[in-house]
Amino acid sequence: MRTQVGIVGAGPAGLLLSHLLARRGVDSVVLEARSRGYVEQRVRAGVLEHPTAQLLREVGVGERMDAQGLRHEGISLRFGDEDHRIDFVDLVGTGIVVYGQQEVVKDLIAARLRDSGVIEFEVADVALHGIETTSPLISYTDATGVARDLHCDVIAGCDGYHGVSRQAYRPQVFERSYPFGWLGVLAKAAPTHDELIYSAADRGFALYSMRSPEVTRLYLQVPPDEDASAWSDAAIWDELAARLAADGFTLNEGPFLERPSVTGMRSMVVEPMRHGRLFLAGDAAHIVPPTGAKGMNLAVADVRVLADALDGFFARGFETGLDEYSATCLRRVWRAEHFSWWMTSMLHRFDPGTESGDAFGRRLQLSQLRYTVSSRAAATSLAENYVGLPFGAKV
Ligand code: FAD
Ligand code: DHB
Repeated sequence: MRTQVGIVGAGPAGLLLSHLLARRGVDSVVLEARSRGYVEQRVRAGVLEHPTAQLLREVGVGERMDAQGLRHEGISLRFGDEDHRIDFVDLVGTGIVVYGQQEVVKDLIAARLRDSGVIEFEVADVALHGIETTSPLISYTDATGVARDLHCDVIAGCDGYHGVSRQAYRPQVFERSYPFGWLGVLAKAAPTHDELIYSAADRGFALYSMRSPEVTRLYLQVPPDEDASAWSDAAIWDELAARLAADGFTLNEGPFLERPSVTGMRSMVVEPMRHGRLFLAGDAAHIVPPTGAKGMNLAVADVRVLADALDGFFARGFETGLDEYSATCLRRVWRAEHFSWWMTSMLHRFDPGTESGDAFGRRLQLSQLRYTVSSRAAATSLAENYVGLPFGAKV
C-alpha cells in the first residue's frame, strides 16, 4: 500500500492530522494498535482550550461538542475551606469547553470514515524504516494477521507515550517525575457545582470535574505507585468529601461507571520533534502532568502546525514549514510544560501524611495561591494559560 502520510496512532493527534490533511487533498493512512471500540471508550482528558474548540468547529467536527459539551467561564481554586473563582471571561474574554477526549475521538473517527479515510485498527508489530530517506515505510501486521508494508513520503508518529515512533531515533529527552499520581473516577452522580474545582487541601490535592449534567469526574492525589484496587468505593468518596469540604458544598455520590485507575505524573519533552521524514506529535513527543489540562490540547496544536507544513510541502514543494516544525511546536510545548509544572507544584502536597513535613514549602504554596486569587495580574496569567494562548502566539 502507498500513501503520502503514514500516521501511527489513532488518538486525538493522529486522527485530527488525518482529517486536516484530507481537507487539503493530502492522502494519509492511520495505523492503530487497539480496536475502534477501545479507543472510543478510553476515558482520559476533558478540557478543551478555547483555540482547540475553535479549530474543531472550523474544520467541521465541532457540532456534537457544541451540542453536548459544557461551556465553562471560569474555575475555582479551593483552599482554606473557601472557593476563589478565576473568572476567565472577565479576565481574558473567553472560556473553555468540557467535553471528553473519547467524544472528540468518536467525532474524528466518524468524520474520517464518512470521508472514506483509511484507519486500520488492531494492527501489530509496527516498525518504521528508512526515515532518513525520502521514501520511508511502515511495516506492520494487519488485523487478519497478514504482514504488510505502508510506503509513504512522510511518517507522523502520533502513537503516544508508549508508542514505537520515539524509539526510531535518538532525540534529547528532558524529564521530571513527581512524587504522586492521580486516582481518577467517573461517577453516575449529578454535579453539584457548575465549574471545575482545584482543591489544594491539607490532606492532598483533589479535582472536581464533570462530563454531563449526570456524570461527575473526580481525581485524588495518591502515591505514584498506588494500587487503585486497594481503595474501596466508600474510601474514595470519604477522601473526596474530606479534601473538597467547603462551606455550603455538598458532594453527590453515585456508582462508578468504570474501574478507578491511577495515572502517574511526569513531564517529558523530546528535542527535536523531527528526524528526517519522521515527525512526532502529541504524547509521543511530550508529556505534561494533567493539572493544567494541557495534554490533548498540545496534541491538537502540534498537528495543526504539521498539517500546514505538509500542505506547503505537497502542494508547492516547500520544505520551510517542515524545517521549522519542531522549533515552532516546542515554543508552545515549553509554555504548557511550565504552566503544568507550576499548577502541579502549587496545588499538590509534597509531603502527604506527615505531620510536620515541608512546612516552608507549604507556606510558599499558600502564599502563591493567595496572590493568584487576589492579584488581577496573577489571575490573568493563570486564565490566559488555562484557556489557551492563541495559536501562533510568540511565547
Ligand atoms: P494518545 O491519545 O495516547 O494516542 C496514541 C494512540 O497510538 C493510541 O490510540 C494508541 O493505542 C496508539 N498506539 C500506541 N502504540 C502504537 C503502535 N505501536 N502502533 C500503532 N498504534 C499505537 N490529559 C489531561 O489533560 N487530563 C487528563 O485527565 C488526562 N488523563 C490521562 C490519563 C491517561 C491514562 C493517559 C495515558 C493520558 C491522560 N491525559 C490526560 C493526557 C491526554 O489524554 C493525552 O495528552 C492525549 O491523549 C494525547 O493524544 P495523542 O493522540 O498524542 O496520544
Ligand atoms: C479534567 C482533567 C484534568 O487533567 C484537568 O486538569 C481538568 C479536568 C477532566 O478529566 O475533566
